[in-house]
Amino acid sequence: MSTASRRFVGQTVLITGASLGVGRAVAHAFHAEGANVAMVARRMGPLEEAAKGLDRALCIAADVADRSALAGLVERTVARFGALDGVVNNAGLHHRGPVERNTADDLAAMVDVNLRAPIALTRLALPHLLARRGFAVQIASLAGKVPLDGAATYSATKFGLRAFSIALAQEVGERGVRASLVSPGPIDTGFIMDEIDRVEDIVFSQTMCTAEDVARMVLDCAHDGRVERQFPEGGGRLATLGYLLPGLRKRLKPLLEARGRAVKDRLRRERGR
Ligand SMILES: NC(=O)c1ccc[n+]([C@@H]2O[C@H](COP(=O)([O-])OP(=O)(O)OC[C@H]3O[C@@H](n4cnc5c(N)ncnc54)[C@H](OP(=O)(O)O)[C@@H]3O)[C@@H](O)[C@H]2O)c1
Repeated sequence: MSTASRRFVGQTVLITGASLGVGRAVAHAFHAEGANVAMVARRMGPLEEAAKGLDRALCIAADVADRSALAGLVERTVARFGALDGVVNNAGLHHRGPVERNTADDLAAMVDVNLRAPIALTRLALPHLLARRGFAVQIASLAGKVPLDGAATYSATKFGLRAFSIALAQEVGERGVRASLVSPGPIDTGFIMDEIDRVEDIVFSQTMCTAEDVARMVLDCAHDGRVERQFPEGGGRLATLGYLLPGLRKRLKPLLEARGRAVKDRLRRERGR
């Protein structure tokens, strides 16, 4: 392996939602580049499965929505590996559908997992990140760049997370901490593929990426401190434009929905869903 691909040797990274999808890919990518990885998810079984073959991994079963559990994630990581260089807030939750069809508990859970927990965990990690000139990477979404109807609260949490990350970069950048976020469009994971019928058509109008694509962006952000990476690039620009020009968004929406519907039908056929 070349030196260029061993950017995190000896560093320790705490990753939430690390048993499946993006988080699992992020943990494997950091490990492959020399890092110790602390992997968090609620269920220990899938977590241990994901950590198989990783010789510098710590598995922690915890719910990030549980306020009392968060400090323990940092403490256990530092106790095991001696330091904490980076945190990746990846665990996410989406109760799909219009607001009035979600229960109050569903809405609160999305805010807790997608927004409150990443902010709180970043805060708890910060003394370590400042001491090590480390990094915090948040996993947002294109839904954090353009409001997505049928996903109003999810979208709101990702907008909030994006604002937090960009503001944090300004707060801590001069003190050597890299604060970044990754804003992907659709990713080929269970998060959307296990409930494809319930995912908004427009989501599939954007090119789908893999968990490994997102992991690459996370590691690049952790390394170079770029404030935001998005995928697909064009989709990210379109999302920004759609946010700034709601009239344009309204006109484009039927076209994007029709395109997304066609992709969704093809995926259903290909995957037998
Ligand atoms: N997939 C997409 O199309 C897409 C697009 C844009 C952004 N994103 C964002 O990308 C991130 C990762 O999504 P993914 O596609 O990798 O999802 P995924 O495949 O469903 O994996 C979710 C992971 O998070 C863990 N998790 C869920 N709730 C948790 C909680 N309360 N506490 C601790 N761990 C929890 C899950 O394990 P347990 O169930 O065992 O806890 C699992 O490890 C999310 O923030 C999501 O919003 C996804």
